[in-house]
Amino acid sequence: MERAATAASDMPLEEFRRFGHRLVEWIAEYLAEIERYPVLARVRPGEVRERLPAHPPAEGESFEAILRDFEQIVLPGITHWNHPGFMAYFAITGSGPGILGELLAAALNVNAMLWKTSPAATELEEVVLDWLRQMLGLPSEFEGIIYDTASISSLCALAAAREALGLQVRERGLAGRADLPRLRLYVSEEAHSSIEKGAIVLGLGQAGVRKIPTDDAFRMDVRALERAIAEDRAAGWRPFCVVATVGTTSTTSIDPVAEIARVCAREGLWLHVDAAYAGAAAIAPEFRYVLDGCERADSLVVNPHKWLFTPIDLSAFYCRRMDVLRRAFSLVPEYLRAEEEGVRNLMDYGPQLGRRFRALKLWMVIRYFGREGLAARIREHVRLAQQFAAWVDADPDFERMAPTPLSTVCFRARPQSLAASGADLDRFNEALLEAVNATGECFLSHTRVRGRFTLRLAIGNLRTSERHVRRAWDVVRAHAARLHAEWGSA
Ligand SMILES: Cc1ncc(COP(=O)(O)O)c(C=O)c1O
Repeated sequence: MERAATAASDMPLEEFRRFGHRLVEWIAEYLAEIERYPVLARVRPGEVRERLPAHPPAEGESFEAILRDFEQIVLPGITHWNHPGFMAYFAITGSGPGILGELLAAALNVNAMLWKTSPAATELEEVVLDWLRQMLGLPSEFEGIIYDTASISSLCALAAAREALGLQVRERGLAGRADLPRLRLYVSEEAHSSIEKGAIVLGLGQAGVRKIPTDDAFRMDVRALERAIAEDRAAGWRPFCVVATVGTTSTTSIDPVAEIARVCAREGLWLHVDAAYAGAAAIAPEFRYVLDGCERADSLVVNPHKWLFTPIDLSAFYCRRMDVLRRAFSLVPEYLRAEEEGVRNLMDYGPQLGRRFRALKLWMVIRYFGREGLAARIREHVRLAQQFAAWVDADPDFERMAPTPLSTVCFRARPQSLAASGADLDRFNEALLEAVNATGECFLSHTRVRGRFTLRLAIGNLRTSERHVRRAWDVVRAHAARLHAEWGSA
């Protein structure tokens, strides 16, 4: 066993080099052979923990032994998001250039809290987000910043929206203030839970979020929004923000942002757009329409870690009022004072101080694939999902539960004779989902659409090809037929 020579030294470089090469080989092999693994981990709760020592090692161990345990203990407890059969939630990709970008970022280990703590990290972030802005077709007034997740991006948007009101919440807080109206923001009933969580964190409370009904395509009903705002004003609330969703989590519906923007302009409300998943589609010209109206938003979030082949985490937040965002968050103690003029110190634009060099991997992903390459991959994912939707539509024992504008299909089994006999189709589809996922060949997730249990198949991994989508459909149909026979004879 090779050990470090002195108490203060790192892993010897010779050893680092040897294991580094081995690990890159391991990763390439893993990606080449990934279909050997069940997509969804098969461990039972607590199993991984039980196999790990309860106490830390007193002495250092060999990297050889650590890798052995990684393979034998950790790997069986992994759900393989990079598996081509991963079609749950929103499928994502740790792409080759993205993985290599992460490796380099870890090696540099910079903390880009201030411009001077790594000028290239700050400036590359500005440039790469401007590239992404151009690819999305957003106007140049939008400036970008990278956060870890869409949840945090939206939290920051809400904080900026509140700061824009000039109520001195930053200085005086919200609690116990008789001079403040209660603040209200509006989302559709299909919006992601992160918006409500943001309201909880910011002290607006769940009561501060009013959920607006949706139309038959699950889009925010703008007339209902207008009515809600008027009602709230009459009742003494202070409306301050609307969050529109481009690509809702359940069905990927797209709110009518242009119309919502008109309401926001008239009412003086901040418009934030949550385009975490679907925003990336706008890179392909035929899907540019998904961001129609977003040019009038105050802020917008899109997640390259969802549908832009960038390893988690990386969320791109755009804002046309960066000064307001800065006002909401900037607080500079003496030990962080920096004297450079005309630079952006990223710590001023969010609750966190330290930040990883995330821009590096996005820069590598965009350069490696290029705009056309990214668009072609998104286009292919939409084509595969549309094909799956067509198979569902053509089968009398299945039904589609929502329109499929992009790469996510909401559907369920509805065997004709079972439906006629009044069987519990929710329970049938729950059993179907469990059976499909137990095969290890593919992993789908679920939602409820208008209260009905619904299967979701999301295409978003670069390794997913037509063969895998066809196989998923075969697996779904085979298990539906088997369950149907069992239920029919029960
Ligand atoms: C529409 C939408 N917004 C926000 C989120 C939250 O994303 P994150 O995990 O980056 O916080 C999701 C996650 O799926 C989403 O679908």
